[in-house]
Amino acid sequence: MQVLIARLVRPEIRALHAYHVPEAAGLIKLDAMENPYLWPPDIQEEWHRLLGAAEINRYPHPQAPMVQAALREAMAIPESMGLVLGNGSDELIQMLAMTVGGPGHKVLSLDPGFVMYRMIATFTGMGYVGVPLNAADFSLDLPAVLDALDREQPVLTYIAYPNNPTGNLFPAEEIVQIIEAAPGLVILDEAYAPFTDASFLPRLGDWPNLLVMRTVSKMGLAGLRLGYLAGPPEWIEQIDKVRLPYNINALTQASAALALQHRALFDAQTAAIRAERARLFSALEALDGADPYPSQANFILVRLSLGGADRVFAGLKGRGVLVKNLNGAHPLLAECLRVTVGRPEENAAFLAALAALL
Ligand SMILES: Cc1ncc(COP(=O)(O)O)c(C=O)c1O
Repeated sequence: MQVLIARLVRPEIRALHAYHVPEAAGLIKLDAMENPYLWPPDIQEEWHRLLGAAEINRYPHPQAPMVQAALREAMAIPESMGLVLGNGSDELIQMLAMTVGGPGHKVLSLDPGFVMYRMIATFTGMGYVGVPLNAADFSLDLPAVLDALDREQPVLTYIAYPNNPTGNLFPAEEIVQIIEAAPGLVILDEAYAPFTDASFLPRLGDWPNLLVMRTVSKMGLAGLRLGYLAGPPEWIEQIDKVRLPYNINALTQASAALALQHRALFDAQTAAIRAERARLFSALEALDGADPYPSQANFILVRLSLGGADRVFAGLKGRGVLVKNLNGAHPLLAECLRVTVGRPEENAAFLAALAALL
């Protein structure tokens, strides 16, 4: 069997590890940038009624028009722009690779950044170019990015805005320079849009190569798996051709349409998370041995200035708190942990455990 695998599976796939999701049962889950809040009982009831009425013997609507309309309205997507939905934004990253990818074609992004850009480039046989961020504060090294765009000629350039796992937002003027210099498409990944006031969504159409990608995951609907990509309709028409039919299932369509009618609820949850982020940041700053980086997202990157990230990660888990250990993930992330902003009592439990371990 191993011989057959070696002959049939591409070496770059054999070299990969499957995306690892740690077991979180029984733990305070602060590892995956989820919204910690559920819906109030009256909306839950309405939701259960809707799910009960869903015709699961039928294929869902292939374009999910109710979800598209609800997203357009809730997120103020310019009317003249096209929209395509994905089974999470991860699927959109894959669709983009299938649309413009091919042997020798490259994806460019900033490192440390969101790992799926690199992984999907590898899955689809494309090259990946990661331009390092500046070590001191994870700011963008603009001359290095402009150089790499010119040298590597990527067909796709991804910028997470704000960036994961660092949480910072790059200056809009620098992004504009990248869009104008890029030979291919530039995808601004606004997965963390609920937690910042900055967005390029209103500027769609200003450049022929700009697309904006978002997800409902971080606003509180990670279980639905629903991402969306907006941009000039000519581009969206091409990308839509590689979308698998019925990629947004019937239960997601029903749930998302309802959830987006209750936008105010999610706005209130988001506001609570932003307020908690400020409290968590100050508390981390006050801890000896913890250096938090300012964040515009729903998580905070913390460097343990005295080291010991692996020990502290394991110690937190032993005390019932799961965060993300980034030590070893990238040279710039040495001794770093990433903590998602949870409910006040969850953050307090994390801080108490961290203080005890430091
Ligand atoms: C920058 C960024 N983009 C996209 C995603 C994936 O989002 P989705 O849940 O829609 O696949 C994440 C998830 O962590 C992310 O950090």
